[in-house]
Amino acid sequence: MTPPTGLGLVRNGPRAGAPPSPATDGRPPALKSLRRACLFALGLPKTLLFNLRYFPLRTALKLPVWVSHRVWLMELAGEVRLARPRPGGVKIGFGDIGIFDQHRSRSIWQVTGRVDFGGTADLGHGTKIAVSGALVVGNRVIVAAESAIVAQHEVCIGDDALISWDVLIIDTDGHGVYDAAGRRINAPMPVRIGNAVWIGCRSVVLKGVEIADGVVVAAASTLTRSVEVPNAMVGGSPAKIIRENIRWKR
Ligand SMILES: CC(C)(COP(=O)(O)OP(=O)(O)OC[C@H]1O[C@@H](n2cnc3c(N)ncnc32)[C@H](O)[C@@H]1OP(=O)(O)O)[C@@H](O)C(=O)NCCC(=O)NCCS
Repeated sequence: MTPPTGLGLVRNGPRAGAPPSPATDGRPPALKSLRRACLFALGLPKTLLFNLRYFPLRTALKLPVWVSHRVWLMELAGEVRLARPRPGGVKIGFGDIGIFDQHRSRSIWQVTGRVDFGGTADLGHGTKIAVSGALVVGNRVIVAAESAIVAQHEVCIGDDALISWDVLIIDTDGHGVYDAAGRRINAPMPVRIGNAVWIGCRSVVLKGVEIADGVVVAAASTLTRSVEVPNAMVGGSPAKIIRENIRWKR
């Protein structure tokens, strides 16, 4: 079993989308490995608690989910399902993004609903997950750091999606808004993020938004309506299409 890397999924360099990290750059590889091992060991009590709480003993002992000691397991209820349980396939609260103080950063796991992981996922440090409905996470998904996902209804994230830092994805407004006849006009609605979507830092994805495959969402955008065109670049507040037929790489 390999302990988590300082930067998440990528072992020999910065994680996709991460700004340079003065905290780890220039350290000898042996020191980096030691640091990773220490972080894994520090997280072991929470990792054990998490796995034993959600999975049958045989699966739990494989430690398919690694939890950092910096994760606050606020509500460890509901259900977690793994399509492919393998050691450390899902990591919560690790990573190392230089512009954040990861020592003081805290992730939150507040789950009373259902979370499905379709493969590997790396929910970086400071990620807040609040699920009373359902959260479906595809394969090879990265949530860089300090992002929040609120799923009161349903949030689905496709394979190979990259959610940058400080992003908010929320399928509810939290408070009702009513018209003159007393009808609620802002009911929670599912959010669906397609495969290979990159959501730039500090963006907000609101209820009912569906994002087609391959879309790039520019930094600090607010998505209030769906993006139906695959491989488009969108940006602004509210976000509009900026370019079409683009490709991006991690
Ligand atoms: C989306 C992005 C990749 C586009 O980069 P680019 O291809 O070099 O695009 P340009 O800077 O040439 O801008 C193209 C157009 O989009 C607009 N645009 C770019 N970013 C925008 C944004 N965040 N919001 C609104 N419009 C934006 C530009 O104003 C420009 O419009 P114009 O053609 O009318 O002048 C980049 O702007 C961005 O937002 N990157 C996100 C970075 C990030 O979040 N990194 C975190 C690490 S995961």
